[in-house]
Amino acid sequence: MKIGIVGTGYVGLVSGVCFAEMGNDVWCVDVNDAKVADLRRGHMPIYEPDLEVLLHRNLRERRLRFTTSLNEALENSEIIFLALPTPPNADGEADLSYVLEVAADIGIWLGAHPEAVYRIVVNKSTVPVGTADQVQAVLAEQGARPGVNFDVVSNPEFLREGAAVDDFMKPERIVLGTSSPRAGDIMKRLYEPFVRQGNPILIMDERSAEVTKYAANAFLAARISFMNEVANLCDRVGANVDKVRIGVGSDRRIGRHFLYAGIGFGGSCFPKDVQALLRTARREGYDFKILQAVLEVNKKQRMRLVHQVRSHFGGNLRGKRAAVWGLAFKANTDDVRESPAHAVIRGLLESEVQVTAFDPEAMTTSQAVLGESITYAKNAYEALSGVDMLLICTEWPEFRRPDFQRIRGLMRQPLIFDGRNLYNTQRMEERGFEYYSIGRPGSIRDEPFLTQ
Ligand SMILES: NC(=O)c1ccc[n+]([C@@H]2O[C@H](COP(=O)([O-])OP(=O)(O)OC[C@H]3O[C@@H](n4cnc5c(N)ncnc54)[C@H](O)[C@@H]3O)[C@@H](O)[C@H]2O)c1
Repeated sequence: MKIGIVGTGYVGLVSGVCFAEMGNDVWCVDVNDAKVADLRRGHMPIYEPDLEVLLHRNLRERRLRFTTSLNEALENSEIIFLALPTPPNADGEADLSYVLEVAADIGIWLGAHPEAVYRIVVNKSTVPVGTADQVQAVLAEQGARPGVNFDVVSNPEFLREGAAVDDFMKPERIVLGTSSPRAGDIMKRLYEPFVRQGNPILIMDERSAEVTKYAANAFLAARISFMNEVANLCDRVGANVDKVRIGVGSDRRIGRHFLYAGIGFGGSCFPKDVQALLRTARREGYDFKILQAVLEVNKKQRMRLVHQVRSHFGGNLRGKRAAVWGLAFKANTDDVRESPAHAVIRGLLESEVQVTAFDPEAMTTSQAVLGESITYAKNAYEALSGVDMLLICTEWPEFRRPDFQRIRGLMRQPLIFDGRNLYNTQRMEERGFEYYSIGRPGSIRDEPFLTQ
C-alpha cells in the first residue's frame, strides 16, 4: 500500500520504517530539513533499538523515502498518517496547532483535486476526544469532500520507546476509530500483516478510540503512582516494596507489569496525557479525582531521592559532589522529555551540589537541555571520581551489575541513593555501602517529604 507519514519523530519514524518493512511504499515528511537530510543518508536522529537496521534496509530497497514536501507525500500515498507533536499548552491541554495546520494543508491539496482522489487521513498523534471531528471540519473548510475524497480515522499509537520496533511489528491490539466502512476496511488490510498471531484489530467510533489512548496511559501512570505510595508506606512500616510487588502482581487480575516503585514516571507521554485527560474532564464539568492524585503523587515522588540526600546530610549540601547515573526518562532511549533524572539533577543543583552525570545514550539530548550546569562523564566510572554520593536515576542494564569494588575505590565515600531499586539491600551492606533505595529496608523515612 502507499503510505505517507507526516512528522518523523519517535512515532512517525518507527511507523514509517515498520510499514516499509512490511512491504509498503512509504513517504515520510518532516519540516526539519536537517533531519530529513540525515535520514536520507541513513543517519538516525534518535536512539531506538533495532530501528537503524530496518531503516537502512528499507532505504536500500527504495520502499522508504524522506521529504520536506507534504504535497510530494500526498501525491504518492493513499493513507496519510499524522504523527505530529501534541505538547501541553499553558493550561495543560493538548496543543492541536501542529495537527490542525497540517490538516488544513492537506485540505488545500485535496480541495485542488476534488474528484480524482480518495485519501484516508489518520490521526496517530495522541489527541483529545473530538479531534477527528475537528480534523474533518478543517479538511472540509478547505474544499475537500468528506466521504468522497477523504475520510478521517483515529488510530492511536501504543508503542513504548525503547521497545518501539517490537511493539509496532507485534502490537497487542490495533485501535481504529472510524465511522467509514470504506476507510475501516482499507486500514484493516494495512494492519492485518502485523497481527497474524491473532491480536485484535478493534474498530470503534472515533471518540472511543481517542479516549482509549488517554485512558490506557492514565491507567498505567496510576499504577506507578499507586505503587510509589505503597513504597512510601513500606518505608514507614518496615516492609519491602519488592516483596509486596511480587505478592500483589502474582494475582492475575493485577498482573506483574508497571508495579515498580521508583522516582516517578516521566517521558513525553504519561505526564502530558494524564494532564490532558484531566483538562478534558474539567472542561466537561467532571472532577476526575484519581488523575489529580496520580499527578500530585508523581510530582512528590520525583523529589524522593533528593529529600533522602538532604536528610542524610542533615540539610547541608553546599559544595558536595554527586555522580548521577542515568539521564534518559527510562532505559533504552535517548529521550529526556520530562525525565525524572533531570528533575533530580535540578533538585541537587538547587541545593548547590555539583553534579557529574553519565548516560549510555542520552548525553547529547541532556546537554541540549541542561547545558553546562553539570559535568558530563565519558563513562559510568569516570563520573564517580572523588564524589560524595552516587544517585541512580535510570534503570539501564549496564548499571545493574557494576564493579562495586571499583566504585568504592573511586568515590570519596561509599554512599548510593538508588531511585530504581537495582541492588539487593543486604548485599550492598555486605559490600560496605551505605545504600538507600525506595520502599525497602534502610530507606530514609524522609520526614520533610512526608509532611509536605
Ligand atoms: N513518543 C512516544 O513514545 C509516543 C507513543 C505514542 C504516542 N505518541 C504521540 O505521538 C505524537 C508524536 O510524538 P513523538 O514522540 O513522535 O513526537 P516528536 O516530537 O518526536 O516528533 C514530531 C516530529 O514532527 C515534526 N513536525 C513538526 N511540525 C511538522 C509539520 N508541520 N510537518 C511535518 N513534520 C512536522 C517534528 O520536526 C518532529 O520530527 C504525539 O502526539 C505523542 O503524544 C508518542
